[in-house]
Amino acid sequence: MHNPTLTHDAANDLWWRSAVIYQVYIRSFADGDGDGTGDIAGLRSRLPYLADLGVDAIWINPWYPSPLADGGYDVSDFRGIHPTYGTLDEARKLITEAHELGLRVILDIVPNHTSDQHAWFQEALAAPPGSPERDRFIFREGRGENGGEPPNDWYAAFGGPTWTRTPDGQWYLHLFAPEQPDLNWDNDEVRAEFESILRFWFDLGVDGFRIDVAHGMVKDPALPDLGLTEFSVIAGEGQDNHPHWDRDGVHDIYRSWRAIADSYPDPRVFVAEAHVRPGRMPDYLRADELHTAFNFDFLKCALEADRLREVIDRTITDLATVGAPATWVLSNHDETRHVTRYGRAHTGVTNPARDQGHPTDLALGTRRARAAALLMLALPGGAYVYQGEELGLYEVEDLPESALQDPTWERSGHTVRGRDGCRVPLPWTGDTPPFGFGTFVSATPWLPQPDDWKSYTAEANRADPTSMLHLYRSALRLRRTNSGLRSEEFRWLAGPPGTLLFERDNALRCAVNLTDRPIPLPDTWVPLLASGPLNKDGTLPPDTTVLLHLDRLTD
Ligand code: GLC
Repeated sequence: MHNPTLTHDAANDLWWRSAVIYQVYIRSFADGDGDGTGDIAGLRSRLPYLADLGVDAIWINPWYPSPLADGGYDVSDFRGIHPTYGTLDEARKLITEAHELGLRVILDIVPNHTSDQHAWFQEALAAPPGSPERDRFIFREGRGENGGEPPNDWYAAFGGPTWTRTPDGQWYLHLFAPEQPDLNWDNDEVRAEFESILRFWFDLGVDGFRIDVAHGMVKDPALPDLGLTEFSVIAGEGQDNHPHWDRDGVHDIYRSWRAIADSYPDPRVFVAEAHVRPGRMPDYLRADELHTAFNFDFLKCALEADRLREVIDRTITDLATVGAPATWVLSNHDETRHVTRYGRAHTGVTNPARDQGHPTDLALGTRRARAAALLMLALPGGAYVYQGEELGLYEVEDLPESALQDPTWERSGHTVRGRDGCRVPLPWTGDTPPFGFGTFVSATPWLPQPDDWKSYTAEANRADPTSMLHLYRSALRLRRTNSGLRSEEFRWLAGPPGTLLFERDNALRCAVNLTDRPIPLPDTWVPLLASGPLNKDGTLPPDTTVLLHLDRLTD
């Protein structure tokens, strides 16, 4: 069966402007060989689930060979598949099968750094200072007596200095873990290598790439001190003329990448993971650069009407200056799951590493998560769904310390637990762990699942017409059938304080009630889909979103 939605014509070539893309954290999605770790076989077996859910594409987190020092963001071979996940041949089959089901496939490219086990880094360690092998990375002499101090005062994202000393006395730079040496993007061989990696996967049929740390890569060659304190490195992302974040030089790289993507007859697309200061994102999305970028302002925004309105406005207005579509996202593999966040007193994200262990009301968080999901799917542009959010999963905040794998845990001296709580393997079926995560053998999943996930399995969700899964499926179906939702139109309408009310076209409206009181809905408008039950008197309860249609049920 070949799905006509993947045919190549002018309209389909713009699929990415409104796509809903499902994030597959492959290690935790589905385990096809029963070893406790997700893999390509598991993903292939669950493709019909994703097609039925109604998403347009999947984005697969790094699946390359890797020592997994940072969950696979430490890549030792960019052209292979981690043996635990499968083989290149299985990857090919996955791409074909996904395409047959009408799902596009986006991979994750990690250009800022490699694994310390990558052949290039091993060659660099074996080669002398000043050698071409070392020039692919960022090696420097240290400061102080005998060069015993790091070359500058930068801190790494997972804690500790960004520099590690090699046995011959030189230091190498790593903005993340020591197992993730930064590449030198002033080196032509590095640039050529990544262009070749892009072609390798595009030739295999992948439809695009998510670019990891897309605002990194280029560094000020002087490597000046920053004067920051530990754990402020990510906060330093907002700083002007930062020596390693969001430097203008990255745009040349993206121009050359875009030319490669555009050289294929059917379009290949990019989405940037770029944490940049306000106003800088449009530069990444110019017509000859990247297609889209994650909207972390939306993810981090408190669930309050005024703040959301501000973020939505700024997003749409900023991106319109370069003709780029907005995207929306509520959760990913780096952030506390939004069911948990929204059940807290403070619903915004300030610092992912620190936003842990605060009391949460999961019933409230779930109600708000439903409202936020329907809002996200009613906005113009594209959206990202992180695996398990469609099941209503919450953050697992009580993983045993012995199970924790995120490098943050070790690097923070066991003070910050890190991101494992949102990476727990998915529950599919049954009443006890591993809840069908392994399809035929029951090896213990690499992170333990909570016992109460029996009521969160895909099976349990499917059986309950009021479940999160049904809400996502219904909303995704509406996006396909309703011309208002498919359009790029968007207009705010006046509503009571604490609410959001907008129109997508003159027959479709969305209302979100973030107050603590019911609000009246506009007369003559018929509810099409709501995130929770509406009141008998027709008012919209607190923490609820509704899509309204002028007079018919579908168009
Ligand atoms: C990105 C990834 C994160 C990873 C980091 C380093 O932020 O999303 O998971 O740890 O880059 O590659």
